[in-house]
Amino acid sequence: MKKIVDFTIVARRQFGEHYFGWTLKSPETLEPIKAGQFVEVEVRDCNDVMLRRPISIHDFDLQAGTMDLLIQIVGKGTRKLATLKEGDKVNVIYPLGNGFAVSGKNPLLVGGGAGIAPLLGLAKAYKAQGVNPTILLGGRTEQLIPAREAFVGYSTLAFATEDGSLGEKGLVTQHTVFGQTYDHIATCGPTPMMKAVAKSAHERNIPCEVSLENMMACGVGACLCCVTDTDDGHKCVCKDGPVFNSEKILSFKS
Ligand SMILES: Cc1cc2nc3c(=O)[nH]c(=O)nc-3n(C[C@H](O)[C@H](O)[C@H](O)COP(=O)(O)OP(=O)(O)OC[C@H]3O[C@@H](n4cnc5c(N)ncnc54)[C@H](O)[C@@H]3O)c2cc1C
Ligand code: FES
Repeated sequence: MKKIVDFTIVARRQFGEHYFGWTLKSPETLEPIKAGQFVEVEVRDCNDVMLRRPISIHDFDLQAGTMDLLIQIVGKGTRKLATLKEGDKVNVIYPLGNGFAVSGKNPLLVGGGAGIAPLLGLAKAYKAQGVNPTILLGGRTEQLIPAREAFVGYSTLAFATEDGSLGEKGLVTQHTVFGQTYDHIATCGPTPMMKAVAKSAHERNIPCEVSLENMMACGVGACLCCVTDTDDGHKCVCKDGPVFNSEKILSFKS
């Protein structure tokens, strides 16, 4: 069930100048969460930011009642959120969207930039099923692949950076591990990256799920501002997604 809750920031971490992370503690028992679902965070005391901001659930611990978010500072809303400190309250609507399928016995998870956020929960969900996914994280530079130590111990971990500062130099689709054999691919990140990953997956007949990051307002399927065209008609990314079978998205076919 969706809830609106005042969480408390119990830990705040800074990852270079562009990213920060929160551990949020709920005052009540957490609703069940699926990897790939997201929250809508209210930006308080910021006159020119009316709408909540959609942010993926990076990690969660139902027993501890905590949820982690990983946030890239890109504009006025995220800049304001970055000023909040441990002990501050954050109003959040959660859990939103459908989440990833935890599918396959030999999956590849590909993340780029802030798109690595939902992949930690997914890696843990696989591990809980006894499956060890390969994780490939990319960014322009080492600084733009935040919080990567969280993935250590959960998976086979590989990096691709455009300047070669971490892992192999180049795009994720050029990385050695990308071309290996998998039975499922899940990806989240910049649209051109996801399109390239999905194209290769289609060519290799590997099922591929993509997590779209369309502009959003209500986050619950009411305003239709996040619609994407699919084989099955117009779909709200916030309610029907954000995770879709890449072969169904019309803009991924061109
Ligand atoms: C389902 C989903 C999950 C996301 N998960 C994460 C995450 O885990 N971590 C993270 O750092 N970012 C995530 N994003 C992107 C994040 O929502 C935007 O970066 C954020 O809303 C920007 O707000 P702003 O006020 O700082 O930027 P603005 O000043 O409003 O705009 C700066 C740029 O951010 C983008 N943007 C602005 N508003 C939205 C919006 N409502 N939806 C999508 N993009 C927007 C625009 O392209 C714009 O160019 C996610 C987006 C979606 C849809
Ligand atoms: S954000 Fe309003 S319908 Fe998706």
